[in-house]
Amino acid sequence: MLFAFTNSKGGVGKSTLAVHSAIWLAEKGKSVALVDADVQGSSSTWLKEVSAEAPLFRLATPDDVLEQVPKIGAEYEHVIIDGPAGLSEVIRRPSGKLMPIRCVRPGVDGRRVRLTTAR
Ligand SMILES: Nc1ncnc2c1ncn2[C@@H]1O[C@H](COP(=O)(O)OP(=O)(O)OP(=O)(O)O)[C@@H](O)[C@H]1O
Ligand SMILES: [Mg+2]
Repeated sequence: MLFAFTNSKGGVGKSTLAVHSAIWLAEKGKSVALVDADVQGSSSTWLKEVSAEAPLFRLATPDDVLEQVPKIGAEYEHVIIDGPAGLSEVIRRPSGKLMPIRCVRPGVDGRRVRLTTAR
């Protein structure tokens, strides 16, 4: 599954959530890669400091994201994208279902329900 942490605002916890999610999945033995799509590079720095278990890809442009993420997704069970501030091109996808989820408890619970009904 592809998880993209995006928000129109900066400093709301995108990188924090992306890094923690990647490490949590890696520690559970899942095949997971982190894509740092923010030129600021916060999640790259943090991941390198904390864990080497999740492979890291740095993508600098929206075109890179669109081109490389499907390839990375073919190699890993889960791909986590840390997006830059702004609802940028990171939320564009060439194919597949896009399911926006708010990072609040009801949003996460709702995702569980929608995933169940989507199968
Ligand atoms: N749940 C939280 N509770 C308290 N502080 C938090 C939480 N999540 C993130 N922070 C802190 O908020 C700050 C901004 O977090 P972070 O860098 O993850 O945001 P961001 O959305 O990725 O920012 P940017 O848009 O600059 O990339 C950091 O200092 C981080 O430690
Ligand atoms: Mg960030």
